[in-house]
Amino acid sequence: MAKNKLGRYAEVEVLPNVTEVSELGMWKGLDEAFWLQTFGVESLDLTLELACGKGEYALALAQRYPERQFIGIDIKGERLWRGAKEALDLGLTNLHFLRVYIDHLELYIPEASVDEIWIPFSDPYLKQGKESKRLTSPRFLAEYRRILRPNGIVHVKTDSPELADYTREQIGEGLAECAWVEPDIYAGNNGVVGDDGDVGSAGMIPEECSRRGIPPELLTVQTYYEKKHIASGRTICYIGLRPTRLALAHHIPLK
Ligand SMILES: C[S@@+](CC[C@H](N)C(=O)[O-])C[C@H]1O[C@@H](n2cnc3c(N)ncnc32)[C@H](O)[C@@H]1O
Repeated sequence: MAKNKLGRYAEVEVLPNVTEVSELGMWKGLDEAFWLQTFGVESLDLTLELACGKGEYALALAQRYPERQFIGIDIKGERLWRGAKEALDLGLTNLHFLRVYIDHLELYIPEASVDEIWIPFSDPYLKQGKESKRLTSPRFLAEYRRILRPNGIVHVKTDSPELADYTREQIGEGLAECAWVEPDIYAGNNGVVGDDGDVGSAGMIPEECSRRGIPPELLTVQTYYEKKHIASGRTICYIGLRPTRLALAHHIPLK
């Protein structure tokens, strides 16, 4: 087993459950047939985790829903390696990782094939002029609209008030409908982490989750970055949204 960062980075290239841009070649995409064959299914029922890092959401979801297929996407091979290794150790055949830029999603994910997109703790890109890199900027919402099925949903979790406000602004502009905003998902227990490392159930969340069809324990899956943010006392916000047709006007075609 590779032990250091460089070793993990090299090994990610050969893991059977990772596909990366260097083996595909720039601008070479993946079609529906690739995914059907990869997952050994006759039709796709996809969920994506974007900026997945070590893939905690994809891993939790893939174990919970063996009949669905999950794709974790990030550009950092060393982080993906950890999620991919765990998926192999768990024997998960319904989870695959892509080491590609999310900016090029249209090359890799077929139109209207996705039911859910999870975006936990993506970079808020706070510097002026960098807003278009945010994963809830109009050009990304356009792409999500293209790959989502009708009624598909995007789940955003963030500790960044700026990213939360920016995302709500896109909703205000009509580029997405708001499904649900929970400004502080751990309200009621103040994010207190128990001896077992668990944050426990959050205030009103379990009932609210059930009412909205999200298993409560999924909202409180904790990624590497979420644990760090909770430890430093940050407030964790959840926003559920559905990109609208208006977002499509912001599509930026690839070269
Ligand atoms: C703050 S980390 C969060 C990782 C993980 N979701 C978590 O919560 O622990 C942000 C991740 O987004 C990835 N990322 C940022 N922009 C990206 C892009 N355009 N394409 C692919 N990955 C990107 C980075 O490589 C990094 O792993």
